[in-house]
Amino acid sequence: MVKAAVLGASGGIGQPLSLLLKTSPLVDTLALYDVVNTPGVAADLSHISSVAKTTGYLPENDGLKEALTGADIVVIPAGIPRKPGMTRDDLFKINASIVRDLVKGIAEHCPKAFVLIISNPVNSTVPIAAEVLKEANVFDPKRLFGVTTLDVVRAETFTQEFSGQKDPSTVQIPVVGGHSGETIVPLFSKATPAFQVPEDKYEALVKRVQFGGDEVVTAKNGAGSATLSMAYAGFRFAVSVIKASKGETGIVEPTFVYLPGVIGGAEIAEATGLEFFSTLVELGKNGAEKAINILEGVTEKEKQLLKACTEGLKGNIEKGVDFIKNPPPK
Ligand code: NAD
Ligand code: LMR
Repeated sequence: MVKAAVLGASGGIGQPLSLLLKTSPLVDTLALYDVVNTPGVAADLSHISSVAKTTGYLPENDGLKEALTGADIVVIPAGIPRKPGMTRDDLFKINASIVRDLVKGIAEHCPKAFVLIISNPVNSTVPIAAEVLKEANVFDPKRLFGVTTLDVVRAETFTQEFSGQKDPSTVQIPVVGGHSGETIVPLFSKATPAFQVPEDKYEALVKRVQFGGDEVVTAKNGAGSATLSMAYAGFRFAVSVIKASKGETGIVEPTFVYLPGVIGGAEIAEATGLEFFSTLVELGKNGAEKAINILEGVTEKEKQLLKACTEGLKGNIEKGVDFIKNPPPK
């Protein structure tokens, strides 16, 4: 029996993500938590003739506790999205404390759940979550994931003309690093099946994957950022985690993890000088079973991208850790 909880379930990502989870036969119980509107969202979804029993919770009446108790997997898209002209780091001021408080709830009510963080800036909110779980003595690095699947989905889509696949999702393109601008590093040289990106198209393609989020923010013109593609990506990653937890083998996904706590991660931490990094991770019954180092043998251009990535990511990670270790005055 799988209980999934979505925190931020009434939002632009939360609603379509909850819809996808509701229609999945892998989910038996679906708990929707938000500061607004969850009774309506849950009532609406509950009319769908699928397996999951769906309930909505608000902060009153111990709603967070009720939503989280017994949860096996918690997905967090709570927090504000970008508007044109903003960076993801501009969201830190508001989203850092939202994520901190929700993860405190996880530490208390479902410390063994898989935790999937979507809220931006992911490069900082995942370190925040790790620090909160550490402080509560319940941190299991194998169970905490920053969701970077949208970068992978974009890489698959934007390279379709070169991969030649009718279904672009059949190509595996590792996208490593973090989830923000130059910290996003697509490794086209490691794609399977292999394909060639023409030299004169390479730079623009990399930029499009790195700054794909801006395309959506600009097109939405003040009405938020990617929601539908993110719901698809978040669902795709959640399904992988659930399937692996049920014993399916051979599931490998790029995701942002705490390297020292995952087998194989120390080597990547040493190569990058970073504790958190999105890399290919083999998923298993207990979550992240193994971090796979694919940084060996990358091209010279990819090495340059990785250099810029690690420089930016370092500060983002430190900012998240510092927010918990040296909390700002209230
Ligand atoms: P949104 O404003 O539409 O929805 C956010 C929801 O969070 C709202 O319903 C709001 O009520 C809720 N919320 C706020 N504070 C809360 C709290 N304390 N507890 C529970 N719920 C709370 O925003 P969105 O478009 O759904 O985006 C959500 C977040 O996801 C943003 O930070 C955005 O930047 C991020 N995002 C990440 C990725 C990624 O690839 N990781 C992709 C797209 C968006
Ligand atoms: C994205 O990549 O679409 C998200 O991180 C949202 C954003 O702010 O761009």
